Amino acid sequence: MKVLGIETSCDETSVAVIEENSVLSNIISSQEVHAQFGGVVPELASRAHIRLMMPIVKRALQETGATITDMQGLAVTYGPGLVGALLVGLNFAKGVSQATGKPFIGVNHMEGHIYGNLLSQKTVNFPIIFLIVSGGHTMLVKMDDHLKYKLLGRTRDDAVGEAFDKGAKLLGLGYPGGPAIDRLAAEGDPDFFNFPRAHLKNDPFGFSYSGLKTALLVYLKDKTEAYIQSNLNHICAAYQQAAVEILVKKTILAARKFNIRQIAIAGGVAANSRLRKWLSEEAGQKNMKVYLPEPKYCTDNAAMIARAGYEYLKRGMESPNTLNTYPALELQSIAD
Ligand code: KG4
Ligand code: ZN
Repeated sequence: MKVLGIETSCDETSVAVIEENSVLSNIISSQEVHAQFGGVVPELASRAHIRLMMPIVKRALQETGATITDMQGLAVTYGPGLVGALLVGLNFAKGVSQATGKPFIGVNHMEGHIYGNLLSQKTVNFPIIFLIVSGGHTMLVKMDDHLKYKLLGRTRDDAVGEAFDKGAKLLGLGYPGGPAIDRLAAEGDPDFFNFPRAHLKNDPFGFSYSGLKTALLVYLKDKTEAYIQSNLNHICAAYQQAAVEILVKKTILAARKFNIRQIAIAGGVAANSRLRKWLSEEAGQKNMKVYLPEPKYCTDNAAMIARAGYEYLKRGMESPNTLNTYPALELQSIAD
């Protein structure tokens, strides 16, 4: 069963073809136009999606030697994300569905990230404590089975990816900043400075990341440019340490509280090397299994959307042609 996946929720235009758990093609075009603005400009993102959609669909199909008629159906992100960006992918999928008679299914982008992890695993056991960490979201979810989720907690302000991006901007590292901080931190001392960790005692599975970026801003205020440059690796390492420690501690706490032995991470920040190593070490000591996604399936891509969509399509589920986009779509479980 082949599925064509389409992802246009933010600034990556991506189209993939998968067959069950195998990725046959996964084309990702990261829009360069936003770099000069230090963040994604929604209007420009939509325009770029329109321009890129057709050529990328053609390439994704060509790479597999398949045509649209070989697909069982299409899977497309319909939220959360930028409304104008989502509309491009969703309307394209609707058009193809109408023209070919193939079913399409709307996929929640966060559910896509979860399946970006599962795509990397040969076998999985449920239940799983899932930490989903991206540029727009930070949440802990208990996944009881395929397509069954319970939200345990989320960020009340910034997402952790946002903390990486905003921190990197303050340090003059460009956008997106997560990979740059990760790279520089590898040569730095994580104990160089003690940035704050928001434990939120009354909200054990909640997160708050706005204070971390503010703490960096305050820290940098009285430092000279020369000092910052000569200690850049250390500053990145200390900042990353604070961001990651909370993620690791809360994920392990959730696994212990619910007595679950499987934990997993997903989303762009799941590519972070410190997070991957630290969580693996902690889990190893506690005899828990960690499912790590391949780095290429952490950041936005259409293979993860196709993989999530496949779970619905194989159950005979499809979306109506009236499906709308939902910029703040919540993770939902299928009915029992
Ligand atoms: O999942 P994603 O591609 O897009 C959203 O759905 O938001 O995540 C992008 C986020 C950005 O904030 C980026 O800085 C962060 O993931 N990111 C990383 C790393 N690679 C990407 N953060 C920390 N370390 C990384 N290696
Ligand atoms: Zn994403």
